[in-house]
Amino acid sequence: MVESASMKPKDLPYPYGWKDRRPLLKDKIFYVPEYYQEHQKELFPSFAEHFGNDNPVNLEYCSGNGEWIIQRAQENPDKNWVAVEMWFERVRKIYSKTVNCGIDNLLIISGKGLTFSREYLPNHCLDAVFVNFPDPWPKDRHAKNRIIQRPFVEELRRTVTHMGTVTLVTDDVPYRDQMECEMQEWPKVPASHENYGSSFFERLWLSKGLEIHHMCYANR
Ligand SMILES: C[S@@+](CC[C@H](N)C(=O)[O-])C[C@H]1O[C@@H](n2cnc3c(N)ncnc32)[C@H](O)[C@@H]1O
Repeated sequence: MVESASMKPKDLPYPYGWKDRRPLLKDKIFYVPEYYQEHQKELFPSFAEHFGNDNPVNLEYCSGNGEWIIQRAQENPDKNWVAVEMWFERVRKIYSKTVNCGIDNLLIISGKGLTFSREYLPNHCLDAVFVNFPDPWPKDRHAKNRIIQRPFVEELRRTVTHMGTVTLVTDDVPYRDQMECEMQEWPKVPASHENYGSSFFERLWLSKGLEIHHMCYANR
């Protein structure tokens, strides 16, 4: 990743206070508030309108600090990329890298994946979806927070194109098993490891000697 300018993550202010929170597209970030009842689909432009082209759209849920998707956007300028991250401190990191690297084929969604998908994504608009190292929430009482669950998988079914793909990557064996169970009606296709790219959490788990599980499914 080559960064030329020097915007810092903290240079991105939060765009509003709690009381005036609302869906907002500003500076290539679409903000999706939680505990909010007035989502309106019209506030989110179509991808063709936003990016100014009809290129395929690849979306990553749980982007973290954005390292993986920034690399993909730089290496694949013929595709549009969408990073979805719910933690604003990490959105700031993705955004500053985007600015410093001069990337214009990446849109950032600041919010929760399921809410964004349900409220704003039209049917069959995503050519490929990636979820790299989603939080495993290892305690039983926290497992309800995992993103890969039935309602989210239903959204994948609705939003991914026919024959589009969903790639799930994790080091966590119980979560891998849950993913396989939730995706059991989806045909598995070979997951390509070559030039897949790397992320902060991939390096962390590899340094601890953990095995990484890549699973890829087609929507048909
Ligand atoms: C373990 S980190 C992995 C980050 C990155 N993919 C990587 O490999 O380095 C998981 C990230 O997912 C985000 N996250 C968890 N649940 C989410 C959800 N429902 N919607 C959007 N982001 C979520 C967390 O805030 C965190 O940044």
